[in-house]
Amino acid sequence: MSFPHLSEILKILDGALRSNASMSSNYAGLLADKLEQDGEREIAGRIRERLARAPAAVAHAQDASGFVGGLPVDNESRLDTLDVSTPPRGSIHLCLPGGTAKRIDEFLQSVRHYDRLRAAGAAMPLRMLLYGAPGTGKTQSARWIASELGLPLLTARCDTLVSSLLGQTSKNLRRIFDYVEQRPCVLFLDEFDALASARGNERDIGELQRVVIALLQNIDALSDNTVLLAASNHEKMLDPAVWRRFPFQLPLPLPDEALRLEIWKSMLGSFAPEALDWSALSLKSEGASGATIELVSLDAKRHAVFAGKAHVDEGELFRRLSLSFALTEGHSLASLSDEICWLRDWDTKIFSLRELGRLYNVSTRQINHYVQGDHGNSRKSTRKRSSQAQ
Ligand SMILES: Nc1ncnc2c1ncn2[C@@H]1O[C@H](COP(=O)(O)OP(=O)(O)O)[C@@H](O)[C@H]1O
Ligand SMILES: [Mg+2]
Repeated sequence: MSFPHLSEILKILDGALRSNASMSSNYAGLLADKLEQDGEREIAGRIRERLARAPAAVAHAQDASGFVGGLPVDNESRLDTLDVSTPPRGSIHLCLPGGTAKRIDEFLQSVRHYDRLRAAGAAMPLRMLLYGAPGTGKTQSARWIASELGLPLLTARCDTLVSSLLGQTSKNLRRIFDYVEQRPCVLFLDEFDALASARGNERDIGELQRVVIALLQNIDALSDNTVLLAASNHEKMLDPAVWRRFPFQLPLPLPDEALRLEIWKSMLGSFAPEALDWSALSLKSEGASGATIELVSLDAKRHAVFAGKAHVDEGELFRRLSLSFALTEGHSLASLSDEICWLRDWDTKIFSLRELGRLYNVSTRQINHYVQGDHGNSRKSTRKRSSQAQ
């Protein structure tokens, strides 16, 4: 038989046992709300009356968000180790492949119906590991999940945590995990690999081992119904013991052609060129992440605004996309001639001599000179011959 509101009652007990008065009082408030929804107004009233009699120290320390005592800080740097935000529902834009979106939805359902699932013996700890290349939407997905759940998002800055002095990291972790237990929220460990690299890593083995062990202990001590998200760009570096702590695992792939089209459309919005060849754009952006598409779109839009145009220039859009690939591949393209040769090699049809002349405001003859001649000193090393280049 399921016992109503057992989660809240256990949290109140946990708060008392850990001397975390804020945790107890927040969950008692939540219990009163739920009882009232059930029609148990008298019992709800009695709980609230008790809460009103809380020692002044507890009542005053609590801020409007329900957290007590200010954000946890690193003792050495005095920097906050947590960042709190409450992304409003509907404010986060995310384009995901169907399968990925479905898995996020299943996770949201598991959070919303946790008590029912537990009563049926089918609950799993609410912990999800998001992994994939940079810019594929991991941080954005965490924000989206928090906004859908209507819970504050508490993001741990793993870089701050690890950069702190030896031995201090474990203390920082403890403070973070204590803090998030105070009230329902989503704890998000971003750039998680900074904390959870494999135990066999050559660098600072002793310290890293201590960090991983402390991390695992903190995760194990966390209530199963506290929502924990972690994101990593380097999933291969994660310790297998870390993987086991996350029953929900979400790979975020680079967008495929159809998804790239969707992202381009949403990012360019009304700035899209009127006769744009959308299919060429999504084909030529193969390998680009959502973040790259966003960046290229913003660049092109800014260019349009400064030029007093209502639409992005199509050639300019492709130019910026191509240059962003050059950057990702590590080509510096220091001279104008390097840049022009790169574009020409990238696609001779999009970047015809005439189009290049228009984009760079020089004569076609001059462009031809750049392309044929031996101008840029670094041209040979930066130039990537594509098969269709003539
Ligand atoms: N799938 C996507 N749909 C929509 N926007 C995306 C997507 N992936 C990335 N972006 C955009 O790129 C930016 C960076 O994404 P982010 O979530 O920080 O990537 P990650 O955390 O995986 O490195 C975000 O501001 C977001 O707007
Ligand atoms: Mg990120």
